[in-house]
Amino acid sequence: MKHWRIDDVDWSRFDASKVDPELVPLVKAAAMVERNGQDYATYLGRVFVDDPDFRAAADYWAAEEVQHGDALGRWAMLADPSWDYQAAFARFRAGFKVQLDADASIRGSRTGELIARCMVETGTSSYYTALAEATEEPVLNQVCRLIAADEFRHFKLFYDHMKRYLSRENIGLLRRLRIALSRIGESEDDELAYAYHCGNEPETQPYRHEHCTAAYMARAMRCYQFRHIERGTGMILKAVGLPPRGRLSELSASLGWRLIQRRQRQYRQMLAA
Ligand SMILES: [Fe+2]
Ligand SMILES: [Fe+2]
Repeated sequence: MKHWRIDDVDWSRFDASKVDPELVPLVKAAAMVERNGQDYATYLGRVFVDDPDFRAAADYWAAEEVQHGDALGRWAMLADPSWDYQAAFARFRAGFKVQLDADASIRGSRTGELIARCMVETGTSSYYTALAEATEEPVLNQVCRLIAADEFRHFKLFYDHMKRYLSRENIGLLRRLRIALSRIGESEDDELAYAYHCGNEPETQPYRHEHCTAAYMARAMRCYQFRHIERGTGMILKAVGLPPRGRLSELSASLGWRLIQRRQRQYRQMLAA
């Protein structure tokens, strides 16, 4: 059962005067990545082929991710009536392929796969919380809050299954940490940048990875406040098996916060150049 439906959103409250034009390109790009969730469920179904409980959970999870895409897409079409969500998504689908022909996790173990999924849900839960707080537009605020609540539940879902596999596979702390950090680093890979391109740039314009990453990240990172990074850091530490609160968490959060601020400035400079 989904926790909410698109029709639960009070779309009639949409207020065009409160739309921040800097957030619209982010919502368009995010809509596409979310809408593509079904492919990840196919991949997870192959990796966890003999685990029917997890496969069923992954199918529910994917249905929620697809709904995130549809809700964000609908909002973006209100904010920009000239924008066509389905057409942009078709373009994205045609050019971006998730590797589906796996019979084992690309992370080297099922525990590793689930840690990587926890990193994605940490990122999305923090991001939609930040986006909800950054916007004054009431419908986007509601949509982002509903999505963020799902993303926190998704984290818990993957975390619980990860614990189950960890007791069997016994992956060491350093390996878990390395998997987590490498998945966080992949946020600058093609998926988001290409979604930004398909959502925001005309087909006639060639795709420039660096430019699209900078354009997306410079806007996205601006939405974060320290408390979002603090909470996300706790989730990352928890997922790898380190204490989510305390000295290590505080130090990691302030390091993460400084890194994000520095990256944001670098992306702004790249865009200006
Ligand atoms: Fe999502
Ligand atoms: Fe999610």
